[in-house]
Amino acid sequence: MSRTFKLAVLPGDGIGPEVMAEALKVLDAVAAKSGLTFEYNHQLVGGAAIDAVGKALPPETVAACEASDAILFGSVGGPKWEKLPPNEQPERGALLPLRKHFGLFANLRPGICYPALTSSSPIRPDLVEGGFDVLCVRELTGGMYFGQPKSRTTLPDGDIEVIDTMVYKKSEIVRIAHVAFKAAQLRRKHVTSVDKANVLTNSVLWRETMVEVAKEYPDVTLAHLYVDNAAMQLIKAPRSFDVLVTENLFGDILSDEMAMIAGSLGMLASASLGKPKGDGLYFGLFEPSGGTAPDIAGMGIANPIAQILSVALLLRFALGLEKEAASIEAAVKKVIDDGLRTGDIFSNAPGTRKVNTKEIGEAVIAAL
Ligand code: IPM
Ligand code: MG
Repeated sequence: MSRTFKLAVLPGDGIGPEVMAEALKVLDAVAAKSGLTFEYNHQLVGGAAIDAVGKALPPETVAACEASDAILFGSVGGPKWEKLPPNEQPERGALLPLRKHFGLFANLRPGICYPALTSSSPIRPDLVEGGFDVLCVRELTGGMYFGQPKSRTTLPDGDIEVIDTMVYKKSEIVRIAHVAFKAAQLRRKHVTSVDKANVLTNSVLWRETMVEVAKEYPDVTLAHLYVDNAAMQLIKAPRSFDVLVTENLFGDILSDEMAMIAGSLGMLASASLGKPKGDGLYFGLFEPSGGTAPDIAGMGIANPIAQILSVALLLRFALGLEKEAASIEAAVKKVIDDGLRTGDIFSNAPGTRKVNTKEIGEAVIAAL
């Protein structure tokens, strides 16, 4: 039976459009093989939308997302829009509102260091030998990103005071905890919860709640790390992590670190998921975790793998197409095993060669 899926495609800025083009070619190849149909609804977002229609998240874009089975997102932002009032800039004007609007509270970032890519990792080879596989579960709609009050005030004495507020409800911690424990049950059954419970009230509740929810998952072990120690342990012993769960801001920081240790931010896909729908699937936004890389935008040399792997996550979590998702992941692994490397992961290791964005896309399609 042929099935049709509707995808909102939001390439955005910088390298977004170039890596998106490769990801869609890969998806077209999956469609041709599987008999499935993917309808792409291309929409403006971020700086591209500001330039074209004057706002980072036009209502048509939101409407197109609402009418779709999933959102495939590129990246937004860049120096061109940094002079705009903060709330109108691409990140705060488009990406964060999209996450909030669709209630995408669970951000899954698979930090995978392929065995063939250990020489691209900036840390000591013996620490990453054989590769590693960490799943970062980042809470995405709470904490300091969204907490009120948020303000900037000039005081009577001329000084300037700024306020950001870290806010969590217990229910928000409970639901992300379940995501982490459920994910761990399908993996190596270990959750590391990261907080700053020696300083923050937020983190005390976070830790208590993790302990409470863990009782429902007796097959999963739970450990706690303070965030500063977690930053250190990720570098010192990446293989000691299975699932790492943490609040929004800590997750933003630690997931970049995790990606870099795994080889490159250009490899890190992500799934931002809302509540499970009745059918066990999720509405979600799927995007590379890295940014727009303005320094190399338009040069055709960006690594499209994070975007391609985001397509795999979309197929898995939003559409329930596990076989097709796994085929993309296997194809990416083969391309890495075959030695193809964009600049960000090229380390001159024997048997590797430097290629551009399109060559990676073509090689993934050939490997499917
Ligand atoms: C990410 C990004 C975003 C974030 C930015 C672009 C707002 O860094 O997805 O990690 O901070 O969440
Ligand atoms: Mg980030």
